[in-house]
Parts: sequence; C-alpha cells; structure tokens
Amino acid sequence: MTRKLEGKVALITGSGRGIGRAIALKLAAEGARIVVNDLDAEPAEDTVQAIRASGGEAVACVGSVSAPDFAERFVGTAVSQYQGLDIVVNNAGYTWDSVLQKTTDEQWYAMIDVHLTAPFRILRAAQPVIRALAKAETDAGRRVVRKVVNISSVAGLFGNAGQTNYSTAKAGIVGMTQTLAKEWGRMNVTVNCVAFGFIQTRLTASTADAATANIEGREIKVGVNPGLLAMMEQSIPLGRGGTPEEAAGAVYLLCTPESDYVSGQTLMCSGGLTGI
Ligand SMILES: NC(=O)c1ccc[n+]([C@@H]2O[C@H](COP(=O)([O-])OP(=O)(O)OC[C@H]3O[C@@H](n4cnc5c(N)ncnc54)[C@H](O)[C@@H]3O)[C@@H](O)[C@H]2O)c1
Repeated sequence: MTRKLEGKVALITGSGRGIGRAIALKLAAEGARIVVNDLDAEPAEDTVQAIRASGGEAVACVGSVSAPDFAERFVGTAVSQYQGLDIVVNNAGYTWDSVLQKTTDEQWYAMIDVHLTAPFRILRAAQPVIRALAKAETDAGRRVVRKVVNISSVAGLFGNAGQTNYSTAKAGIVGMTQTLAKEWGRMNVTVNCVAFGFIQTRLTASTADAATANIEGREIKVGVNPGLLAMMEQSIPLGRGGTPEEAAGAVYLLCTPESDYVSGQTLMCSGGLTGI
C-alpha cells in the first residue's frame, strides 16, 4: 500500500509526549522522516527510538522552543539530516493558569513565548529554505505542496476562565495561520490550525492532588480535578475526551495530499463540542 507521506520531512515540536508524540508516530507510519523536538531529552529520544523500531526515520532536536536560537537549530537539523522540509507542526506547549488579576508577567510571557513567539520564529526560519525549494521545483515544472499545522485550542476560540494568557496565545496562532496562508500560498504552502477540545494527556489527566510538571525549571500544576473532568466530558457530544491518536488524526488530515487545496482554516477536533 502506498504511504501518503513517503519521503516527506516533518518537524514536530513537543513530540516527546502526548499529542505531539502521537503526531510523530502517525506521520512516520505514513512514511515521513521526523525531526522530533522536546524540552526533555528522554521523551524525545524515546519517540525517536519508537519510530526507528517500526522501521521509520527520526532524529531528535532537544531544547525549548522558547529559546531565541531554537528555530535556526530546528530548521537546520531538518536540512542537514534530511535535506528537506515539507511539514511543520507547531505543537509544543502547556498551560499555566490564573485568573487575570493574579496572572504575573512571567506567566503571561511564558504562554506568549511558547505558543506564539516560538511558532513565529520557527516559521520565519523555515521561509528561506521553503522559498529556495519551491523556486527550484517551479523552475523544474513541478508543484510540491508543503504543510504547516499550528495547534490551537477551544480556549483560543471561545475563551476559558482562568486562562487569559493561554487563550490569548491560542487565539493569536489562529491569526498567524490566516495571515501566513495568504503570504505562503505562492510557495505552495498550506497553513492551517487544529483547535483541540479535551484530549487525554498529562495536561488533562484526572488528579485529585496537585500534580506538577517541571517545565523550564518551573513547577507548573498539571491535571484537572475529577469533578471538573466529569463535567467537561458530559458536555462533549461524543461523551468522552479524545485520545492523542485521535488528535493526531486531525493533524494528519491536514498533512495529506487530499487537503492540498485547504488553507487558512481552523479545524476543531473536540468530539463535537462547538463552544465552551
Ligand atoms: N490536551 C488537551 O486537551 C489540549 C487541548 C487543547 C490544546 N492542546 C495543545 O496541544 C499541544 C500538546 O499538548 P499535550 O496535551 O500533548 O501536552 P503534553 O504535556 O502531554 O505534551 C506536550 C509536550 O510539549 C513539551 N513542551 C512543553 N513546553 C515546551 C517547550 N518550551 N519546548 C519544547 N517542548 C515543550 C513537553 O515537554 C511535552 O512533552 C499544546 O500546544 C496544548 O496547548 C491540548
């Protein structure tokens, strides 16, 4: 059977865990070569090993997407390892919640940096590489469609109490997507967004206690209390949270040749939830 993404080079941020890891495994299973990124080396290497164990190709580029030099290093890894760049998925991220009046500048900028500035820098660094590839292909009379998929959230589309910083950033990425779809169409790049509802990862795991994750040296609360979780699930038409694999499926759709004429869109992957 022909694989849909044979030979493509895909860069996926935050692909050591959760949704990003599932995207990396899915795209690799369809033949893409993956540049895996994560803040943490161990899960990044684990994703690379899982891809290689299934006969795929992957390399890790470890580090925070928020670091000023990250974008050049990330794009440089794709070019030096695989001499190409076909798919970029801006997925890395986390939440750091507070009601507005308690949100510190540090909390505000952490969300803007990881969910907005990092994708901006990665895409800016990718532009000259894509432009040169697209020009060579056009000169040779070929059209190769490249894909950018940015990750948003229903919080970015509808707002969510306690997440001014996060929802602002996730709304911003929708604007970036729409603008870049207009700028990059001439290079045959489609630029789309996937906005997730409730997907079962460590960010949304049921926790009665205060679970935390160490993110860039800060202990950030993760998980949702069981009562709230049950309420959230009740409001989802499909009656449950999605799996990382189901989330990855929505991203994959926007990476396939079948979506080559779809650009500037935000696809909700939320089990039918159309508002919060
Ligand atoms: N889980 C949900 O319900 C949900 C809903 C809407 C949107 N999202 C978005 O989906 C994306 C993935 O979330 P997830 O649920 O898979 O979370 P996750 O915590 O399971 O995985 C996210 C991965 O990103 C990495 N990461 C975090 N900050 C990073 C940084 N600065 N640089 C590099 N890597 C970094 C983490 O180490 C982690 O491995 C995020 O952008 C999140 O906001 C998730």
